[in-house]
Parts: sequence; structure tokens; C-alpha cells
Amino acid sequence: MRVLTAGESHGRCLVTIIEGAPAGLFLTATMINEDLAPRQKGFGRGGRQSIERDQVQILSGVRHGETLGSPIALLIPNLDWPNWEEAMSVSAPAGRPSHPVTRPRPGHADLPGAVKYGRTDIRDILERASARETAARCAAGAVAKALLGQFGVDIVAYVEAIGGVGSDSAPGDPKALREARQASPVFCPDPTASGLMVEAISKASDSGDTLGGVLVVRAHGLPPGLGSHVHWDRRLDGLLAGALMALNGIKGVDVGLGFRMAELPGSQVHDPIEVSGHAPWRYSRPTNNAGGLEGGITNGEPLVLRAAMKPIATMRRPMASVDMATGQEVLAHHERSDVCAVPSAAVVSEAIVALVLAGAFQEKFGGDSLREMKRAYDSFLQDLASR
Ligand SMILES: Cc1cc2nc3c(=O)[nH]c(=O)nc-3n(C[C@H](O)[C@H](O)[C@H](O)COP(=O)(O)O)c2cc1C
Repeated sequence: MRVLTAGESHGRCLVTIIEGAPAGLFLTATMINEDLAPRQKGFGRGGRQSIERDQVQILSGVRHGETLGSPIALLIPNLDWPNWEEAMSVSAPAGRPSHPVTRPRPGHADLPGAVKYGRTDIRDILERASARETAARCAAGAVAKALLGQFGVDIVAYVEAIGGVGSDSAPGDPKALREARQASPVFCPDPTASGLMVEAISKASDSGDTLGGVLVVRAHGLPPGLGSHVHWDRRLDGLLAGALMALNGIKGVDVGLGFRMAELPGSQVHDPIEVSGHAPWRYSRPTNNAGGLEGGITNGEPLVLRAAMKPIATMRRPMASVDMATGQEVLAHHERSDVCAVPSAAVVSEAIVALVLAGAFQEKFGGDSLREMKRAYDSFLQDLASR
């Protein structure tokens, strides 16, 4: 599946086109909306979320509740648009243009983007660099999740740390994990750590500062054999890490034990292979330090990915900058912003991982129709049972 998104943060709407989804998949706007809602939640988000109530319109690619195999076009209106109609108008305004943004924010695309695209108003950059676009990616992710759900794959993301406050305690069972995550205002399944994270965000907010953190994405129910070792650009670890790194603000991704592997001897890192007798095959692993991937291929264990997000770059107490119009040293531009978006980033990461995994399923099991995919999948499982 290929995914394209379009839309500025304060433009009329966001648009997603998903090309290559299989035919015969049950899909409704309600299913997608259920996936859009949690992205807007999470303690630490700014005023924009009280305005937006993301609701998708399916424009094409679905008929009578089933995908057709043709491109699926999705539209999410921006409810804030009426307040920005003039500032973001497609046609040139009749009167004087609105105040340009000329004081780039360190940590944003503002300065490199304005120079690269030759713009004098930084709004031309920040509107698209904004993570509002991630709503469009979540909508695409909902389609990927609907597909993966047909094969029993369950993806759950949660927050492990915010601003240095963390906990590595999380239920192993995906259902219990999701329930624990939903009970937390910061999507952290550990209630004690969750309370400390809320305190840390409040403190940062009071002082005009911002916080980043660490999120974890787990995918349960994956068969062995997705991805490939045969060529670098087919390795699933590379595809997953690349897609997660392309989420705004993410500065590091690791798999399984990740960076901690570098400190330990091999005997304490690699997962022994044992005989289990459980479906879908006879092999099992008593540990999962590899995070479900070996040689760029799923090994039948849960996929475990971790991503580090930098603190939000728009600050109420702005950093030093330079006015690009005057060359004067000034304070950076500030506008309505989140204080911490790690919980929302976890939700978006779920969608991103779903898109990559759906692609890996289609590569392995074919992709014109769901029925065809299921046939190939069942035949592969039968083969696995005999290995
Ligand atoms: C869900 C989500 C919400 C975000 N909200 C904001 C925000 O309100 N203000 C802000 O300055 N950055 C926000 N960010 C982060 C910026 O989009 C990001 O820091 C910026 O694109 C620069 O990061 P980069 O260098 O990784 O591209 C958010 C990121 C995500 C994933």
C-alpha cells in the first residue's frame, strides 16, 4: 500500500490517499474515527485539541462497506479553518497580507525549510511541518489495522517515559496493556509512573518549558517470515525504523533490547531456540530480546519497537533566534502549542507500524483481494506446522 497525505495545519482539511489496499476489506468511517480519537488525547496537549474533533469522510475506494482495491481517498476537515480562512486562503488576499512569521523556532523546520523553499513567511513552512498531518497518517493506519486485524494482529503502543520519568512495567497481554494504557492520562500502563509524568508535564508547563519522552510499540500475532534478509531495502527492521523516524520529533528508534544490546555479551542478548509444540510452529523462544526480528524477518515473537521523542520545540519561554527579515537577534516565534505530545506520538506510531506491517503482509501473501491473501496465509501456516 502506498500512502500520500496532503493538507496544511490550518488549511481547509487533511487528505489521505491509500493506493493498493486489497479488495473485500470491511471498512467504515466509524472504524477510522475510533482510531483518530486517541491521537487528540493525552495530558500535555494544547488548545487546538479542544477545537478539533477529527471525523473522516470516505470519498472513494469503498462501496457498500467494502474496499474495492481502487485508491481510497479520505478527508478530515479542520474545524479551526473558519478562524484561518483569510490567513490561509488559496487566493491572494485583497487587502494587506497578514503578518508574516519571520522569527524561526530552534528545533523546527522553520529556518532550514524557509531557506530551502525560498519563502520569506515561515508560515509557508510551519503549516505543513506541523504534526497536524499525523491525523492523516492515523486515518491510513486505521485501514492497515483493519487489514491486519483479519490475520489476528494486534498493535498496541504506550508511553514508557516522559522527561526522564519512566517505568518499564507493562502487562505482556495486549488486551490488558491496552486497558492499562487507556486508564492513564499519559497512556502509560504503570499508574505510579503515570502520576509522576503528569506532575512533570505540569511543572514544565508552569515554567513555559516542554518535555519529550520514550514510547513503545508492540505488535502481537505476527507470523514468522515477514520482511526479508535478501536485500537491504526489504529488511523489516529498516522499514519500521525508517517509518518511525519519519514521525515528527522522533530522534531514535530501537528494536527489542535495542541500544542496551551494545553493553552486554552475546550470551545475555540472543534468545535461545526451544521446542514448544504450540501453533503456528514447533519453535519457541524463552526470551524476546530480539524484539521479534532476526535478519530483518519476523521470527514469530511479538514485535517490540521503542522510539525517543525530543521535547516540543515551540516554547512559551522562547529560545534565542534571529529575525530573518531584519537580521536582528530576537526571541523565537511562539503560537499555541502542546507542552508534551509523547502520548499522541504513541498513538500515531501504532498507525505507522500498522502501515509497514500491512505492506509486509501484502508482500508475503499477495494483495489484490483479502480472500486471496487469506488463502496464501492459510497455506503458509500449514507449511509452518510441518517445519
Ligand atoms: C502528535 C504530535 C504533536 C506535536 N505537537 C507539537 C506542537 O504542538 N508544537 C510543536 O512545536 N511541535 C509539536 N510536535 C513536534 C513537531 O512536529 C516536531 O518537533 C517538529 O516537526 C520538528 O521535529 P523534527 O526535527 O523531528 O522534524 C508534535 C509532534 C507530534 C508527533
